[in-house]
Amino acid sequence: MSIQYLEKERVFCLNTPGSTYLMGIAAQEGFLGHLYYGTKLEDITGAVELFRTQESPYVPEKNERDRGSFMDKFPFEYSSHGVGDFRESSIRVRTMGGQTGTSLTYVKHEIYGGKRKLEGLPATFGQEDEVTTLVITCRDEATGLEVELSYSVFEKLDVITRSARIINGGLETLMLEKAMSGCLDMDGGEFDVLTLHGSWARERHMERKPLGHGEFAVSTLRGESSHQEHPFLGLLSKGADQVQGEVYGFHFVYSGNFVAKAQMSQFGQIRVVMGINPEDFCWKLEPGESFQTPEMVMVYSAEGIGKMSRTLHDLYRGHLIRSPWLHKKRPILINNWEATYFNFDADKIVSIAEESAKLGIEMLVLDDGWFGNRFDDNRALGDWWVNEDKIKGGMGELVAKVNALGMKFGLWFEPEMISPESELYVKHPDWALQIPGRKPCRCRNQYVLDITRREVRDAILEQVFQILHSANIEYVKWDMNRPLTDIGSAALPADRQGEVYHRYVLGMYEMQERLLQEFPNLLLENCSGGGGRFDPGMLYYSPQIWCSDDTDAIERLVIQEGTSLLYPLCCMGAHVSVCPNHTVGRSTPFATRGMTALTGTFGYELDVTKLSEEDKAAVPKQVRAYHACNDLIREGNYYRIASFWENRLYDCYQVVDDKKEKALVFFTQVLGEPAMHSRRLKLQGLKENAKYKLSLIDLEGEELLKDTGRVLGGSVLMHAGLQVERPWGDFQGRLFFLEEV
Ligand code: GLA
Repeated sequence: MSIQYLEKERVFCLNTPGSTYLMGIAAQEGFLGHLYYGTKLEDITGAVELFRTQESPYVPEKNERDRGSFMDKFPFEYSSHGVGDFRESSIRVRTMGGQTGTSLTYVKHEIYGGKRKLEGLPATFGQEDEVTTLVITCRDEATGLEVELSYSVFEKLDVITRSARIINGGLETLMLEKAMSGCLDMDGGEFDVLTLHGSWARERHMERKPLGHGEFAVSTLRGESSHQEHPFLGLLSKGADQVQGEVYGFHFVYSGNFVAKAQMSQFGQIRVVMGINPEDFCWKLEPGESFQTPEMVMVYSAEGIGKMSRTLHDLYRGHLIRSPWLHKKRPILINNWEATYFNFDADKIVSIAEESAKLGIEMLVLDDGWFGNRFDDNRALGDWWVNEDKIKGGMGELVAKVNALGMKFGLWFEPEMISPESELYVKHPDWALQIPGRKPCRCRNQYVLDITRREVRDAILEQVFQILHSANIEYVKWDMNRPLTDIGSAALPADRQGEVYHRYVLGMYEMQERLLQEFPNLLLENCSGGGGRFDPGMLYYSPQIWCSDDTDAIERLVIQEGTSLLYPLCCMGAHVSVCPNHTVGRSTPFATRGMTALTGTFGYELDVTKLSEEDKAAVPKQVRAYHACNDLIREGNYYRIASFWENRLYDCYQVVDDKKEKALVFFTQVLGEPAMHSRRLKLQGLKENAKYKLSLIDLEGEELLKDTGRVLGGSVLMHAGLQVERPWGDFQGRLFFLEEV
């Protein structure tokens, strides 16, 4: 049983295969307090002492005098606000009297097999034999506010997910100004924080620094999870690396404004909170109404960062991504964006498709520019009808021509946006988010649609559905190319304007849900100016997300390392494009670009009709490698061997199958070094006593596998290392294949 309640001690014990999470109800006051989270405890006798409630100056049953000092150090499971705990609060409600005090005590709990859905929100899921859920109800006596704290414990993974449902159980209206999804009070210790930061074309770069007194936070107010900061926070014990050390990972299943904070108190205790960013958030709760927070994922690893990554990969593959495409090889696609930008017509697209089909590419994706009056990015968002000047004969004819070549067809949309220069805006200027009396801020010359409104969502989806029903369109790229500003909805009253950011995210989730209900087999890829909305929330809807508009093979090593810190390789959109690269101007070998893209969903982002004969000849070889390797890449276990982000010279990662019989080793020498002998790469995840045959996957030659004639023991490979010759030159990739003999 993964969740137990010990009646006598009033302690809840949550166990995963390798971790224990303990909390208890403090004597008398009834506060729900945190006791322990870490390596699995086989016996928890005496754990209740961990509360320190018997330490002076305040002992609950003995005096009232120094209650303040108790409040300010008690490890709260969901921290209170304004009544003595000066650390970060988890919840803040404003009463009609204008006050904000909140303090929660235990009322009751329930344990059940499985996991209920979170209304309107993406969340992890699992069957009764895969996950057990504990719901603890707490109450604030003064306001009648109730909070249901939910903990779902996964049987096979070191994961506990949390969320809170906040119910107005009182008689007057409450304004919910802050509602974290979870709070974790740890006793202390020396930790580094690990986060992901970035920008457009530079998403999810890792950053690690020591956590000190005060607070450290990552957050966004852009209305999307953002390029800039990621809804993730890791706490690493000092010296933790890929293979050893304690790691706590906190990841947020949400695609809008978030905050993740780690705070070190005067006593060295560490509090972590994660939730919707309270800035510009205020939700009106009438008596009897409730608010559901998004889900927060907690992972524990006693075996370093690598184990945390693999746990999250398994969680997302097994319990978050719902798409029927999850375990399938995705069609190798070619996207015309970097090939043509807005400068194309149907003939051009067909010519790209014809050439692509000959090379083994399986799907043509028509990107931005096919609709309305969209001859550049200054107009037409919202006018989702086919531009027949460009697409002569209409979408049906174009798709039929592409299908006749044996290829699938996919299409780009940006459904959440409206151009000031569009037919839609002329008809419905109030459909753009805006603040009365202010000119809304343009980004890429576009406004954001007020999709908090049902009629707006309906009108856009109606257009999208009409296009998708008009032809055999099997893939959609759902883009979102600007952050939210001018937060105001013409449809909401003054006291609900603080709900717009969150209602926007709920509206977007609802639109994607309806799209998938209408087209259950659709392959959906999310995108946001590259990877600006790459988060677990979006994975609930689409099995893959475009990683970045930066397709340079070397930049991608870092972006994809940061992405794979949390996400399985099967969801990383990765394509080969031309050189000099459009974002950095770097030239890298075609084979290295192919190898980097093979790590993700794989495809091309170039004009294949203009490729050199040499590169064109290499495409079918990359296609062949994709078909040979994708099952392993998609379903395998990921190990990080060396990081270019850290060493600035070379990069190496490995994917191993469950049985440890097969492995791929991706090695890239970014910079050549003179006068050095071969390099040793200490592999991971193999069998100590097995022997492996080493081959090279040839991305250019006639045969897929080049036998190296080398057979190596698993323990040699893992402890002494795979000896790899240094290639001649910069940006050189080598893809090795190991198979047990
Ligand atoms: C974003 C996407 C690109 C492309 C363009 C089209 O930047 O990330 O891949 O679709 O929009 O405008």
